[in-house]
Amino acid sequence: MNIAIDGPAGAGKSTIAKKVAAKLNFVYVDTGAMYRSIALYVIRNGADPDSEVDMANALDKIDVSIAYEDGTQHIFLNGEDVSTAIRQEEVGNMASKVATKAAVRAKLLDLQRNLAASQDVIMDGRDIGTFVLPQAEVKIYLTASVGERADRRYKELVEKGQTPDLEQIKKDIEARDYQDMHRDIAPLKQAEDAILIDSSDMTIDEVVGEIIRISKQV
Ligand code: DC
Repeated sequence: MNIAIDGPAGAGKSTIAKKVAAKLNFVYVDTGAMYRSIALYVIRNGADPDSEVDMANALDKIDVSIAYEDGTQHIFLNGEDVSTAIRQEEVGNMASKVATKAAVRAKLLDLQRNLAASQDVIMDGRDIGTFVLPQAEVKIYLTASVGERADRRYKELVEKGQTPDLEQIKKDIEARDYQDMHRDIAPLKQAEDAILIDSSDMTIDEVVGEIIRISKQV
């Protein structure tokens, strides 16, 4: 069985998908991490994401793979575990940029489909229900207001000991939403057969409960 969860940055997809995976004994696949790994390579090597030559060279040299340790996804860029390095804000913003490129998306598609073909997965991203796994038995479009997503991100960073700027976070979220929703290939949008969950006024456990309830109905 495949569960697809799509939605904008900061809607809580990964936190929720991880919990649903643990409860249903599914494998959680974080596709954003794959785009982030390519972005990390681009940043580290000073490649220009808008240059076709640079990107073709980079993609030739990049191998992205994933492995599971105690049920947690680890992502490897040319054999190096980059699971922590890819979580920086800068990498997320570059991921959104490289994700507009056809060659990047093509490179990751087989990896994503193969993971879903061989096991029960809950996969999160932007185009899972619309493009990667159009046959998924359950499709969720998880969103929340920009203000709520920015507040959550702000609190997360404060808890990490940082001193973030709430207005800047809001702007970054809006820019990322725009870029992810307006690209030519596989843009972020709700699949016609996806169920919309707006988590603005819901707790994490309420959203998890709702997705499990929906999954048990199919
Ligand atoms: O979910 P995330 O923040 O880790 O994703 C980072 C970026 O990767 C996101 O802004 C757009 C891109 N992405 C994508 O285009 N398609 C996916 N299935 C997952 C992520």
